[in-house]
Amino acid sequence: MKAIIPAAGLGTRFLPATKCTPKELLPVLDKPVIQYVVEEALEPEGVDGVVIINSHEKPQIEAYFSVDQEFEDMLSSRGKQAEAARVHAASTLPVSFVYQDEARGLGHAVLQAAETVDEDPFFVLLGDYFVPDRQMCVRMAEVSKAHGGASVIAVAPVPADQVSRYGIIAGECVGCLPGAEATGEQEGAVWKVTGLVEKPRPEDAPSHLFIVGRYLLSPRIMELLATQGPGAGNEIQLTDAMERLLAEEEMYALVVDPSEGCDTGTPAAWAATNARMALEDPAFAEAFREELGEKGERFFG
Ligand code: G1P
Repeated sequence: MKAIIPAAGLGTRFLPATKCTPKELLPVLDKPVIQYVVEEALEPEGVDGVVIINSHEKPQIEAYFSVDQEFEDMLSSRGKQAEAARVHAASTLPVSFVYQDEARGLGHAVLQAAETVDEDPFFVLLGDYFVPDRQMCVRMAEVSKAHGGASVIAVAPVPADQVSRYGIIAGECVGCLPGAEATGEQEGAVWKVTGLVEKPRPEDAPSHLFIVGRYLLSPRIMELLATQGPGAGNEIQLTDAMERLLAEEEMYALVVDPSEGCDTGTPAAWAATNARMALEDPAFAEAFREELGEKGERFFG
């Protein structure tokens, strides 16, 4: 089973930093953003490979996940074995690449991986957000298993004035994760999805639950994407193909707490994620507070 990470975007929100460095390789502490997403994608049992949808403009991503023996040898010869081991570890992750060279939307990006998923369900993880060590995709797989292998998406409540930024679901709460006692829009509640709409106007939104960027999808979606016309923003939308899938197959949504993850979609969110991770990571917390000095004390206590 594969997990797909679309990463072909230009990263314009991070310019000028992303002129020469893909946004996916910007660091959170000492690891590139995309490595956190790859590690998250490999959490569920059964995921044996990650397919990154890249553009040919960003060969650095492929280089990052490839072995560079000369570089590792150079590090080792300078006594930097631990660093060499960490560099090597990234190159052993089961990552492969397909390419999307035209910006035609998320649905078009996912379609580029059609041959790699074959007849199996697959995950899609959007790369501007990662959820370290919280097993979000594992929980989604549990919901799918409880519902005969149906597609499952992660959703979360969003204020009414922000619905037009996201994909929004229609549906009803039908239960919750095994062991949880959630209902409605509470974390752990499970909805049966009856409709999906990409970036609706607030008055047209069928609920306040938005698609968070984690999907476990039936392989049938690839056939639907192949014939999907453009939608919101004149782009081929994954959400629109999922809406068509509903006519043929069941789909469920798991309500999650998006604040359990880390957003890196804008410079401000990326900076906040770095600060949060630095404060939470025992390997960084003390040095981070020290670097911030007295000024930082005011903010972080
Ligand atoms: C994409 C999806 C949208 C989803 C969002 C989550 O939109 O199309 O349904 O809610 O990601 O971040 P984008 O952010 O690419 O406009």
